[in-house]
Amino acid sequence: MPIQPRPAPRRRAGKSPDRATPALSARTADRHTLYQVAVQNVEAEIDFVDRTYTKLRGRRARRLREDFCGTYASSCEWVRRRADNTAIGLDLDQPTLDWGRAHNHAKLKPDAAARVATIRRNVLHPPAIARGVDVLLAMNFSYWVFKTREQIIAYFRAARASLAPGGLFFLDHFGGWESMKPQQDRRREKGFTYIWDQARYNPITGDYTCHIHFKFRDGTTMRRAFTYDWRLWTLPEVRDLLAEAGFKRITVYWEGDDGKGGGNGVFRPSLTGEACAAFITYIVADPR
Ligand SMILES: C[S@@+](CC[C@H](N)C(=O)[O-])C[C@H]1O[C@@H](n2cnc3c(N)ncnc32)[C@H](O)[C@@H]1O
Repeated sequence: MPIQPRPAPRRRAGKSPDRATPALSARTADRHTLYQVAVQNVEAEIDFVDRTYTKLRGRRARRLREDFCGTYASSCEWVRRRADNTAIGLDLDQPTLDWGRAHNHAKLKPDAAARVATIRRNVLHPPAIARGVDVLLAMNFSYWVFKTREQIIAYFRAARASLAPGGLFFLDHFGGWESMKPQQDRRREKGFTYIWDQARYNPITGDYTCHIHFKFRDGTTMRRAFTYDWRLWTLPEVRDLLAEAGFKRITVYWEGDDGKGGGNGVFRPSLTGEACAAFITYIVADPR
């Protein structure tokens, strides 16, 4: 029963932003560093992707594409894993890509660094060089930026067309009745508090506005460090839309129970979930 009252809990355990932002204050902190600490756990994400692909296909994936890649931390993690892994990231925002180059890409050893690239591009129109991938990622719910059936199906079709034979499309999703509720969820990190703000939800259109704020011990707050203008798609809708876009097998990986009302970090294929307040799932879409 994965009751997780926060939609972005995938933490990078044990890492502190202190090294990059010695004075933790809204005046000096770097929002991308804080995001990577509080929101992302690319190690766990890539563990899941690598293990699931190998299990389903009986061989290792090599070529990965990260859609909505932002600072492309997952791509960097992928090329770090094995000497023949390659990655390409697509994102619209050049300053964010540049931050990733300076802070994530630059930390890779030269051999790994040579196997990752990014392109500033709308994921609806991936270039030929970004097609033929074994694994395609759309994580942190970023595909919710597409608010109409036409747009989201167009994206899912473009994703399907980008897969190599045997390729798989990995997405994540969050839901549960709390996801529709305007509310703020706070979590303390080392030196700052992460605030997930579900600011507005329109039950007629599904329009959903969320922010991330960071609050510091010196009393300062970095308000709206990130803002998301999404449609809150439900899990049954996403499954139907993937099917409509031509995916044949759509599997939801539901998180196990830690026995204390939370998730245990182990995601298994399932057709039965529990009606929790908040949950996060992975979805694996297979075109064959
Ligand atoms: C929530 S962030 C995701 C960052 C990272 N992938 C993660 O997992 O945390 C969303 C990113 O999607 C990008 N984005 C939004 N619409 C896009 C589009 N149509 N094509 C490419 N990138 C897009 C934004 O620039 C932003 O960097």
